[in-house]
This record gives sequence, C-alpha cells and structure tokens, in this order.
Amino acid sequence: MSLRSRMTTPDGDPRGSGATASGTHNGAIAPDSTGHLVPAYRTKLLEEIDLAEMSALAPAERRARLERVLGHIISREGPVLSTPDRELLIRRVVDEALGLGVLEPLLEDASITEIMVNGPDQVFVERAGRVEQVPVRFASHEQLMQTIERIVSTVNRRVDESNPMVDARLPSGERVNVIIPPLSLTGATLTIRRFPRAYKLDELIGLGTLDEQMLLLLSSFIRGRFNLIVSGGTGSGKTTLLNALSGLIPEHERIITVEDAAELQLQQRHVIRLETRPPNVEGNGRVTVRDLVRNSLRMRPDRIIVGEVRGGETLDMLQAMSTGHDGSLATVHANSAEDALMRLQTLASMSEVEVPFAALQDQINSAVDVLVQLARLADGSRKIVEIALLASHGRETFALAPVCRFDAQPMSPDGRVHGAFAHLPLPRRTGARLAMSGEPVPPAFGVAVNDVPLATRNTL
Ligand SMILES: Nc1ncnc2c1ncn2[C@@H]1O[C@H](COP(=O)(O)OP(=O)(O)OP(=O)(O)O)[C@@H](O)[C@H]1O
Ligand SMILES: [Mg+2]
Repeated sequence: MSLRSRMTTPDGDPRGSGATASGTHNGAIAPDSTGHLVPAYRTKLLEEIDLAEMSALAPAERRARLERVLGHIISREGPVLSTPDRELLIRRVVDEALGLGVLEPLLEDASITEIMVNGPDQVFVERAGRVEQVPVRFASHEQLMQTIERIVSTVNRRVDESNPMVDARLPSGERVNVIIPPLSLTGATLTIRRFPRAYKLDELIGLGTLDEQMLLLLSSFIRGRFNLIVSGGTGSGKTTLLNALSGLIPEHERIITVEDAAELQLQQRHVIRLETRPPNVEGNGRVTVRDLVRNSLRMRPDRIIVGEVRGGETLDMLQAMSTGHDGSLATVHANSAEDALMRLQTLASMSEVEVPFAALQDQINSAVDVLVQLARLADGSRKIVEIALLASHGRETFALAPVCRFDAQPMSPDGRVHGAFAHLPLPRRTGARLAMSGEPVPPAFGVAVNDVPLATRNTL
C-alpha cells in the first residue's frame, strides 16, 4: 500500500483526514499558469464523486476514476487549456485530493528511497544511495504544515510548538520524522523513509553486496545455527540483509521477530512478528524491545530475530543466544566489526541489571559467533566489507578472525567503487562445527591448517 492510499480515511474518503468538502486544500503547489486553478477544481471534483463508490476501488483505480471525472469537469466548465497544462492541472488536483500534494509524484516514484523536505522551498530525495535536490516546492510554510499535519494526524499524533518533534511510522511501514520551528531553524522539516524493499539474496549478489561464495558461507552459518550479528552504519542495508538472510532459515522452524518498527518481511510459514508500542497520550502502555525479547523467550522460539538492538534488551538477547536459542540474528549500529562488539558491550550494560563489564565480555564471547559488517560506500552502493568469526573465549579480550573482506581499489574516474572480495580460510573450530552440523564449507574459503587462525586480531 502506498502512503497516498493510506492517506484516505478508513471509510474511503479520498479527501484524506485533513480536508473538508468545502474546499480546504493542501495547496502544496509550485506557482505556475494553472496553480491558481487547483483549489477550485479540487472542490468541484470532491462535490462530484461518490465517496462510497470510491472506497470500494483499489488505489490505482481510484486515481484513474478521479482523473476521468475531473477531465469531464474541465471539458464542461473550461477554461481551454493546452494539453500539457490540462494534464498538469489534472495531476495536481488529483494529487491533492488523494493526499500529499507536491509530494505525491515523489511517493509514486519507486526509485526514491527517502524524501527530505527542508522547509517549503527545498526538497531532496535519495535515489540509489545518492541524495539530490528535486524541483518541487511548497507554496508556503502554511501549506507545508498542512501536509505535515495531515500525515501525523493519520497516526493520531499532533505537531505544534509544545510538541515540535514527532516520530511516526505509518501503517504501511514508512517512517516519518517531523521537526518544526523553533527547534528547526531551517523551517518545518519532514523526512519520509520508504518502507525498504525486500531484496532477495541473488539480487544482493547482482548489486555487488556479496558474492556467491559468501552467500554459501552465510547459508552454512545460518543453517548451522551460528548466532549472527549484522552491523553497519545508518542506511547501510542492515535490515535489508537481515531480511534476505532470514530466508535461509529452514521452513519448519518457529521464528519470532522483535522490532521497534516492523520492517522484516519473512516468507516462512511459522513466523510470529512482535512490534513495540509507544506510550499513549497519558504516558502509559509502553512496550519496549526488551519486554518483547523477554516475552519471546516464553514462546518456545527456535530462532529469535531482533531487528536492531539499541539498549538494555541487548543483554537479554545475548543471554538468549547463549542459552539454547542459538541461530538467532540481530543488527547493531556500528562502523566496524570491532565497534560492533564494543557497542554490544555498552548496550548490554544499559540494562537495569548490574553486570560487571568483564562478565559482559564473557557473555558476548559465548553468545556471538559471526559478525557481518556492512558499509555504504562513496558511490552509494552497499557492501559486506567484512565477515568475521569471534575467536575469543570466556573473559578474554575480544578477538576476531576475519574470513572475508572487501578490498577496494582507488576510486576510478567513473565515480564507482571497484574492488574484490577476499576469502580467507575458516578457523579450524569453525570448520569442525560446520562439519558436525552437516553444513558445507564453501570451496573459496576452506579451513585453516593451524589451530590458531592466522588472521586473528585483537580488538583492544
Ligand atoms: N545491498 C543493497 N544495495 C542497494 N541498496 C540497498 C541495499 N541494502 C539496502 N539498500 C537500500 O538502502 C536503504 C536503507 O536500507 P536499510 O533500511 O536496510 O538500512 P539500515 O542499515 O537497516 O538502515 P537504518 O540504520 O535506518 O536501520 C533502503 O532504501 C534500501 O532499499
Ligand atoms: Mg534498519
């Protein structure tokens, strides 16, 4: 479902929640020859459509029907317009009637992954990892605020001076953040993150995020029930990779996913999806990731997947991983595999249970088996830049045994990052564990001949 179709009210009113039939309009138009006609035609259109009939239509049909009705109105009542002006007027009036005005064409463009509105005059989008400004503007601050109010009211939130920051997730998954003056000196700022598209692993191979041998290795790890952490910076593709990797979990297992904002789209039959809940207006009823992780342990999971660990739930997750719920997966925000371990330790210490730092080290050493580090490179591509096994035990300082890394070449004139994945032998212990679980070691990796893997590095 698109954001636009969600902007229709539950009874199918295509005016959206913020509009009235008397012609209140979103008005988010760029000034031009037909811009002044938009409000009047919007009112006429809303007067002529049958709302009950509209609500029965699929979003695309609803748009087509509105365009047809409006076409008739313009032919009947004039003015005479050139074909491009007429098409532009129809598109704008319908965009407004359906929801988000000037943002509608951007929301319709599947290649756009993020829309960033920095005050009424500046709109940026992200396409294929690159940010660019687009020739779209709101007619005024008030019109931008009307659009914002319309968005936040669909999730029963309010934005005003006393509540100038709103973080919301719309029912179809888009994450929306709003921050308005006086906190934002740039003007009302709206950031819409598209619901991430679910890439399949072979598509990720096509994009150069990983190669076939790495896929085989990760598949052996997941099927062999290694606990795996996907780490990376903001927007580096953690959730996307986690989602794709989850597809490797055997069909018969009971999987419980825990997320702050549900984004994972697992295809297996036996999946329970849990999502946090913010407090209500009185400040009650909050359910955290930690509550859900704890609850999931009482639900007989074969695997627990935590969308992203950000706080005290990390300790519960690590405990679960090292006490029978092996094969679990999670993501963490960190810029290197070393940082990911440190971050897990810091996050686990945020739990209200006082655990000495050294004990947390022990916990991480026994819980985490594999770290998969992602990065968003200068050309906007996302790559697995490292796969490393945790080679330390007990209270030892963290040590990582890298088994794969991406070696980038100097930037080429085409502006793209070229390079190659290096495959290194697996530690013997890892080879033995895979053999015991009946999982193959992909040929490009092999198993180290020495007991101590050559490439081990300490993280401190
Ligand atoms: N391997 C990839 N190749 C190209 N684009 C990708 C890849 N992985 C993710 N993307 C795109 O990058 C954007 C961010 O992806 P995703 O949400 O998975 O990142 P994230 O690291 O989980 O972000 P966050 O830090 O906000 O949780 C999405 O638009 C997604 O479609
Ligand atoms: Mg994510």
